[in-house]
Amino acid sequence: MKSLLVTGGAGFIGSNFVLHWIRHVSPHLINIDKLTYAGNLRNLISIHSTPGYRFIQGDICDRPLVRSILQEHRPNAIVHFAAESHVDRSILGPEEFVHTNIYGTLCLLEESRQYYNELDVESKKSFRFLHVSTDEVYGSLKPEDAAFSENTLYAPNSPYAASKAGSDHLVRAYHHTYGLPTLITNCSNNYGPYQFPEKLIPLMILNALKGEKLPVYGDGLNIRDWLYVEDHCEAIRVVLDKGRPGEKYNIGGVNEKTNLEVVQTVCALLNELRPNSSSYDSLISYVKDRPGHDRRYAIDNRKIQFELGWRPKETFETGLRKTVLWYLENTKWVEEVTSGAYKNWIAANYGRREVPCEA
Ligand code: NAD
Ligand code: TYD
Repeated sequence: MKSLLVTGGAGFIGSNFVLHWIRHVSPHLINIDKLTYAGNLRNLISIHSTPGYRFIQGDICDRPLVRSILQEHRPNAIVHFAAESHVDRSILGPEEFVHTNIYGTLCLLEESRQYYNELDVESKKSFRFLHVSTDEVYGSLKPEDAAFSENTLYAPNSPYAASKAGSDHLVRAYHHTYGLPTLITNCSNNYGPYQFPEKLIPLMILNALKGEKLPVYGDGLNIRDWLYVEDHCEAIRVVLDKGRPGEKYNIGGVNEKTNLEVVQTVCALLNELRPNSSSYDSLISYVKDRPGHDRRYAIDNRKIQFELGWRPKETFETGLRKTVLWYLENTKWVEEVTSGAYKNWIAANYGRREVPCEA
């Protein structure tokens, strides 16, 4: 029976993955998460008492803790999601990003290397360390540029992207130098249930429902390649199962949209599902741009499609409808995560963008 150690499994993608794995693969899963502002055990309530599942509140930088978890639970694979993940937060405070994303990954790699070295030959053959990363490590594309492939050179532009690039390089080096059987996935922007509402899509849904402004940075024409989170979870499962150690795989939705198109589609869905006296579009407001804002991301999916047979199931329209419905139906979850510290973040990030901009 395959047993997995997941880091950051109480965050947005991590908790979707933990639920996916336990429903579709195996209940034998250990989840270590520090429970920062982004970690939420409510996401995992439905599987909390599943025999075989274990949650441990802890920091990946705590090497003795990581060591004892590996020794006690003897996982066949590690899937590493834990990170500081929000670009805007990295601009206001980069240090935590370097600490968790680079030093934390180093701690995990060091402990995994020791653990791997002591495995028997058979266990060594099947062991994998899968590092979940982002397309932001590749930098920004011009309109005419080809989408990011696995051979695109790294050119990270934000402290977040730079810290993820650093962690990717460490993972690569641990394969090359020590023979650790690693896999790296570089995925485009995710959306779906349980996303913390300081990221674009949930922020827009919840602001619109409250009748508050929908703050679009700059001219709103920055492009992201959106992927429904469940498709990402399936891609990780496929890479874990069939990916070649030492390789990296790009994952994306083939859904390039400008931010304005995304916000307008959210508004159209809300106009249909929760009609109001005026259209939600009237709340769109252009605000001061993010410094160093990457213009365009796009993923070339061909390697994972042709080598491993994965392709996304959701279109942007079907995935976004599911997402909007989820936020409409899960009001208790929303109330909990938007109380307390969330309000401080909104004040810190949007307070300094107060002067509206012309589109
Ligand atoms: P998230 O911020 O929602 O969740 C991160 C989780 O990691 C939280 O539960 C947090 O408590 C935990 N964590 C943070 N520091 C920790 C530490 N030191 N020790 C243990 N746990 C810690 O992030 P997410 O959006 O779910 O992203 C997960 C991973 O996927 C990240 O590595 C991110 O870089 C990558 N990724 C995200 C996206 C996206 O669109 N969200 C796209 C591609 C890749
Ligand atoms: P985000 O969800 O923060 O993801 P990332 O920066 O990692 O791509 O933002 C997605 C896009 O939306 C990005 O181009 C910035 C833009 N954005 C806004 O226009 N307004 C907002 O309030 C936020 C949070 C993001």
